[in-house]
Amino acid sequence: MSRRFKTLILLLLLIAGNAVLAAPQWVAHTSIASPDLPPGGWSRFDDLFRDASGQYQIPYPFAELVRFLEARVDNGQRSGVRQVFIPIGRSLQRNAPAPDFFHFPRALIALQGEPAAGTRVLEYRLFIAHQPSTATLEVISYNDIAGRFEFQVVDAYDARQRPLVRQANRLMCLSCHQNAAPIFAMRPWSETNFNVEVAARLHDALPARFKSFVGSLSADAGAIDLLAERANYLAAAQLIWQQGCSDASCRAAALLALLQYRLSGETNFARSDSVYRSDYVANLRRNWQRNWPDGLALANSRIVDRDPFAEEPLTRTEDALSLRPPHATWRDVDAIVAGGIIIRLAGFMTQADILRLDRHLIAKGNRSVQNNERLEARCRLSNHTESTRLLKCANGASKASLRATIELEYSLGKVQSMRLLSLRLADEPGLLEPTIVNLTRLADGLQADLENADGAISMRLPSGDRLHSLKLHWQDDSLQREIHLEIEIAREFQIIEQALASMLLNHRKGNGASLSTGPFQREVIMAELGKALGLAADHNEPPQARRQQHAQIPARTLPLLKGEQAGDLALLQPYCGHCHGADTLAPPGFLAGNDTTRHIEQCAARILARLLAWHDPSEQAIAPMPPPASIDANWSQSEDYFNLTAAIGEQLAATRGSAAVIAATAGSYDLLPPCMTID
Ligand code: HEC
Ligand code: HEC
Repeated sequence: MSRRFKTLILLLLLIAGNAVLAAPQWVAHTSIASPDLPPGGWSRFDDLFRDASGQYQIPYPFAELVRFLEARVDNGQRSGVRQVFIPIGRSLQRNAPAPDFFHFPRALIALQGEPAAGTRVLEYRLFIAHQPSTATLEVISYNDIAGRFEFQVVDAYDARQRPLVRQANRLMCLSCHQNAAPIFAMRPWSETNFNVEVAARLHDALPARFKSFVGSLSADAGAIDLLAERANYLAAAQLIWQQGCSDASCRAAALLALLQYRLSGETNFARSDSVYRSDYVANLRRNWQRNWPDGLALANSRIVDRDPFAEEPLTRTEDALSLRPPHATWRDVDAIVAGGIIIRLAGFMTQADILRLDRHLIAKGNRSVQNNERLEARCRLSNHTESTRLLKCANGASKASLRATIELEYSLGKVQSMRLLSLRLADEPGLLEPTIVNLTRLADGLQADLENADGAISMRLPSGDRLHSLKLHWQDDSLQREIHLEIEIAREFQIIEQALASMLLNHRKGNGASLSTGPFQREVIMAELGKALGLAADHNEPPQARRQQHAQIPARTLPLLKGEQAGDLALLQPYCGHCHGADTLAPPGFLAGNDTTRHIEQCAARILARLLAWHDPSEQAIAPMPPPASIDANWSQSEDYFNLTAAIGEQLAATRGSAAVIAATAGSYDLLPPCMTID
């Protein structure tokens, strides 16, 4: 038997090819080692739920937790907590509620909107999944100091017990969360209550709780999909900030651009500015060649959609454990990649930060009015109806530095009001869409003030400068003679440029941390920028990180499986022990406890199927083990693989007979005896 079995495996090995291509480097991926405990800092979840003494206070029940979070994000008219229910899914918790899937649906929430109190960005920084039947929360939330998402699990989350928060086995989580961030299905999100059939079944099971599902479709699945995608870009932004930029001038130029982007209401930034091009883009290009000659690959936050009511077992492509192609591969750094990173980095600042900067610029800029610049243009009456007049304004023919289209409301032989349809300046690539706050009649025309309304940021150009006012002058109300447009721009952004220059100088003297290598940290940047600008300290700022240590994770100790008696089965320990050595049902802890021999025996058919799956590329095949994302594919050509597979095959034959070996290789994985059962 044993010889025949080895020959079979040898044959399988020969079939598999092993071509190696120059692959781009992953931005963040399972294959990049990262410790379970963060190298520094705490997760958003820790920030929100740890009290001053370091104890976790987590509102219960889950609806209470949702309310708690709703009070902390301002999402306009909508709730800042987006939520879906997934009764039948593909997560680690998917089998926990069996067979009462619709009574214990997994709830999944993600945050959207601006922080209501405190100043840390919450949007796409916190994702929580709740499985009521096991009283478990799974948490993925951002750690600014480490510049990564933390994976955590909360056990005993119920009314009677004290919840236990622990740092998860990161590599195990990352076997599906290959992007080291949240993952979510593509549209139409069939496993969620966005699917009317799922919503109806949830309502049948729990009518009181899910009455809102009747006849209404929630937009939350789409929102969570998008939030997960945004979260996915954080690692790329951090990598470029730290390694794409190799010096402080590059980071200062990136910071300048992202502040312009935010101050202009996310319209644009000065992409053709020489500092941006030489200090940021050129530096990034050089480092790209050096660091990522084969390009960078951004892992995917999306898994393919799956019909939860399908009869057929999961296909390879549907299985979250299967290796997924990248979401994007950047072979080289072009203007779009370089600019895209600026936009992603801009998402680290809160709207409150930008408002403070805006107000400060106005206050400081007003004291030096000579910085204002006027641009003039002539306007033509281009067409009109009874009640409107359309004006086209430009200063010069082909290379106008100012162009505008304005609609005037006209009645009783007079101009009554105006609307700006378009405005374009030569050195600002985008179309501007200012809102007029205040309209004043002048003796010879109209003045539109573009000052900011309460709580809104000013109308700013991609240069960061402020569009202050707009005047139309005419000689008579019939508009038959010359009409002039005059706009006034407050050149205020130089105040920020000066502050950044002084931060850079400080950095060169060895002071300040904001521009050093290390993750982009909004709090450090705002503190140093605020100081350079002479801004008063922000009292909303959370207290400095508490000096508490993370509780150490006990080392994973694996009993048994040593020495002669285990033979090649001892190979299970180094290759499987990291994820199957804890006392869990998912993944099954067949290497935990004192009864490993029995557990391995019980699980042998499934183990064998998972090992052989390395050489079965078909869509119907089960995902191989260890998860492909966690190990180099060459493993399936190694002597260890061969010896372990043979040993499991032999053991299965010895305990259950050769029919069991044939069954394990036959492909009906779900029919094989289950690995672990609750004793
Ligand atoms: C077997 C694959 C698999 C493993 C392993 C896994 N997850 Fe997930 N996880 C998923 C899938 C699929 C989703 C999205 C759909 C869903 O929740 O059903 C998800 C969603 C989540 C979410 C909700 C936010 C999001 O990503 O959409 C959290 C939080 C989460 N997982 C945490 C964890 C943690 C913590 C671990 C490790 C203890 C872990 N997961 C391990 C498959 C997995
Ligand atoms: C990096 C973590 C990791 C490693 C290493 C790993 N596994 Fe797994 N294993 C998982 C995860 C995650 C699952 C899926 C759990 C789920 O969602 O059902 C799983 C599932 C399994 C299952 C399926 C259990 C069932 O109920 O059908 C078997 C069998 C298995 N693994 C065997 C192995 C063997 C054998 C090795 C070593 C050669 C190994 N695993 C190494 C993470 C790992």
